[in-house]
Amino acid sequence: MQGDCPRGVHKSTVPAKNESDGIRLNKYIAQAGIASRRRADDLIAYGKVRVNGKVVRELGTMIVPGDRVDVSGTPIAPIEQTVYLVLHKPAGVMTTMRDPQGRRTVVELLPKKLPRVVPVGRLDYDTAGVLLFTNDGHLANKLLHPKFGVDKTYRATIAGRLSPEDVRALNAGVDVGNYTAAGAKVRVVSVRAASSVVDVTIHEGRNRQVRDMFEALGHPVQTLVRLRFGPISLGDLGVGRTRELTPRELAALQRVAAQ
Ligand code: URA
Repeated sequence: MQGDCPRGVHKSTVPAKNESDGIRLNKYIAQAGIASRRRADDLIAYGKVRVNGKVVRELGTMIVPGDRVDVSGTPIAPIEQTVYLVLHKPAGVMTTMRDPQGRRTVVELLPKKLPRVVPVGRLDYDTAGVLLFTNDGHLANKLLHPKFGVDKTYRATIAGRLSPEDVRALNAGVDVGNYTAAGAKVRVVSVRAASSVVDVTIHEGRNRQVRDMFEALGHPVQTLVRLRFGPISLGDLGVGRTRELTPRELAALQRVAAQ
């Protein structure tokens, strides 16, 4: 996990290799809007800056989450590390943080001692698969905004034999009753008389959309797994397990949100 940096550890004069090493004290002061980085260096050199109650004068001092910094006695709000996680949500778990009916919620599956994270959207109680969590509200809001229309791929096991007409209907956009879903990309995985398996990619995110699309075609969904959310794939992440996004995945997600 990011955030495993022990509290109070300062790698003085050692430049950060990456964000999980912390943030340089002058940058931290500048980001808080107290002074420019150069001026922050002066403040540090003059002995005006304390970290966890001790004056520091090393310009390369690194700050990690949990550190308390003050400048001339005025505390600076602590940094909260941004966290980006993907959970392989199991079926039979609520996406909400609390359930009045006492059902299992995703909170039970998240690592302990996280900053407060929120799910990026939701999956139905019975749907499994990719569910992102972050405390980066800015990114979460962008990813959920209909304007961005992030592609989401679901593997649906449906009752009955999927026909070529069904595929055409999915491609064209299915009327589910109260709205017409936008056209979906379809990859047929297997077709049998009793049930078929199909991957559908949609960019909308309406409540129970995939279930409603297949229901409207007369093929109720038996199981549903989200394989992909934008550039984030389930891969071999075990059911109920979480992992951090890789820097490459995060960059890809940020690119999607910036479009
Ligand atoms: N579509 C559904 O029907 N259910 C989900 O959980 C997500 C998309």
